[in-house]
Amino acid sequence: MSERLTKAEFRMLETWAYSTRGTCDRLHTATTLWSAEPEHLFLSGGYNGAPAGQPACDEAGHLMVDGHCIRTNHGEENALLNCHDPDRLEGGIATILGSTPCYPCARKLVSKKIGIVEYIGNYENAHGAGYLDDLLKNAFVKCVYISTDDLLKALKKAFDFSGNSGGIFKDIVLPAAFFGPRHANMRLMDGGKLIIFEGIDGCGKSTQIKMLEKHLIQKGYQVFATKEPGGGLPDLRERIFALKEDGEENLAERELELFEEDRRVHYHDKVLQALASGKIVLQDRGGESTKAYQGYGRGMSLERIEKANHEATYGRKADLTIFLDMNVDDALSRLQNDAPRRINRFEKKEFLEKVKAGYLEEAFKHARTGDWQTVWADDSEEIIFEKIKEAIEERLEL
Ligand code: TYD
Repeated sequence: MSERLTKAEFRMLETWAYSTRGTCDRLHTATTLWSAEPEHLFLSGGYNGAPAGQPACDEAGHLMVDGHCIRTNHGEENALLNCHDPDRLEGGIATILGSTPCYPCARKLVSKKIGIVEYIGNYENAHGAGYLDDLLKNAFVKCVYISTDDLLKALKKAFDFSGNSGGIFKDIVLPAAFFGPRHANMRLMDGGKLIIFEGIDGCGKSTQIKMLEKHLIQKGYQVFATKEPGGGLPDLRERIFALKEDGEENLAERELELFEEDRRVHYHDKVLQALASGKIVLQDRGGESTKAYQGYGRGMSLERIEKANHEATYGRKADLTIFLDMNVDDALSRLQNDAPRRINRFEKKEFLEKVKAGYLEEAFKHARTGDWQTVWADDSEEIIFEKIKEAIEERLEL
């Protein structure tokens, strides 16, 4: 269930939206005005902008006097000018983004008997700052500080809300670029868990992922189930299998290139954003497959693959890798029983033996890290699933 914004968060976002129309890039401020609680109506909004019909800073440059740009009306002034029902301002709220009000603007708000001034961001407006506290105190105006972190949390909550049932973004995963380069991989990445399933062909990953997806959704989590290869480049499988087997070295080289390009697009466009919006990502194969298949299987340098994986995933490692281990013979006969077909070049016994040995080597390296779980996969679906559930409860508290 997605959480609705509180009234305070709603005021923050409305004010933030106004600020994005600002024309003076010395400070993109904005103000919204609201009637007193509990009625709490939106009355008006305004941003830092030149008087109607006059050139704006972004066209004519700043008009500097005593270290201040005087070309624009402040957001507070424009909000007051836009207010068609000024009588309702008495006891109401002024939400200001970017800084405390300057002294002249505070005077105007006080004249309209505003009850609360809340300001987002910790910039103390220099203009009359020494007198601001006294003015607000004498006029019984309550002053509330809101951090930019709180604004970011409200924005994230709004995206989560719209990404859930009934929301406009319900069916899409926002691309990383949407949040801008600064935030794509930082703060908004806080949430989410990345669980990657690994194992040789035929080990039963996809069945377990489906079971886990259902289980987590029932527990109320938002889940994004996805797969490599093909998570980023939809025609990747065809391109991989179209590669000619003209020499092991050349083949490995081209496979590596394609798998990593697919991964880079996959993480950039889908995985990082799903994590940013707090989802649990269940990923069928990831960088460990490249290590096992191209590294241990085809003899490429593990160091080189690790570096390529790091770049393609923007440094985002799995919170938990679940390796489904089983004998190669059993996995191959399971593949044939499930869907009899021609064996592709990855599904050959000799090759898969090397891949499996590689996975075991990696399992050993991760023995103490707590981010790897090996599960014996030649068992009933239910028993395997119980072990997976236990692992994610214990290691990720899900
Ligand atoms: P796919 O046919 O989707 O198989 P599966 O359902 O087992 O994941 O994947 C094609 C093959 O690609 C599979 O045998 C594993 C191999 N592979 C690599 O060799 N390197 C990689 O980096 C990845 C992601 C897959």
